[in-house]
Amino acid sequence: MGKYQGVIFDLDGVICFTDQYHFQAWKQVADEIGVYFDEKINNRLRGVSRMDSLDIILERSDRPYNAEEKAALAEKKNDLYKALLLNMSPRDLSPEVKETLEALRAAGLKLAIGSSSKNTKMILERLGLSGFFDAVSDGTNIQRSKPDPQVFTMAAEFLGLPASQCLVVEDAEAGIRAAAAGGFDSAGLGEASAFAMTTYPMEHFRQLSQICL
Ligand code: BG6
Ligand code: MG
Repeated sequence: MGKYQGVIFDLDGVICFTDQYHFQAWKQVADEIGVYFDEKINNRLRGVSRMDSLDIILERSDRPYNAEEKAALAEKKNDLYKALLLNMSPRDLSPEVKETLEALRAAGLKLAIGSSSKNTKMILERLGLSGFFDAVSDGTNIQRSKPDPQVFTMAAEFLGLPASQCLVVEDAEAGIRAAAAGGFDSAGLGEASAFAMTTYPMEHFRQLSQICL
């Protein structure tokens, strides 16, 4: 084994692609309250918690929303989002991701999820990955969302490993910042491959095998 004993994966945008579902659900909520929302604003929501995402969307609103109204909007979005997640199945897990996860696991690495999402359990079920990971740290066990490192620090604790022995895999700026703040090296996919803070810029998920094995 190489430098790392464990790998902590972000979920949305790394293991699976839920961006469009988040977009469709937020778009419906934004349209209903007459607030402009587009794909570019949606990109800013990557890795950001549900309530922080709503605050970003409401930057365009011409009136303030109180806590109760915001909770109702977030709940409506989540109901729409969960209905869309029912479209997901194990076919949404790419062979590349599946084979790479299996190769890392076969080499003895411990694997965890580190996601801001409170829907992590449902998404892993839809993908056929329930019980696959050695640990799951998600939106249900944290008080502070990325870019705070808490979700990754807790994932490492659940694995019983120090941050220095874990690699974080991310697609979002908030996640790369969270990894760095927690003392983790990071592997970045998509837009995260372009950040100076990313330890290993990657084009393909399978490159994790070269980094870790
Ligand atoms: C992150 C997504 O993984 O989870 C964000 O990248 C999302 O876009 C966040 O807002 C929270 O998700 P959920 O499922 O708890 O609303
Ligand atoms: Mg992500």
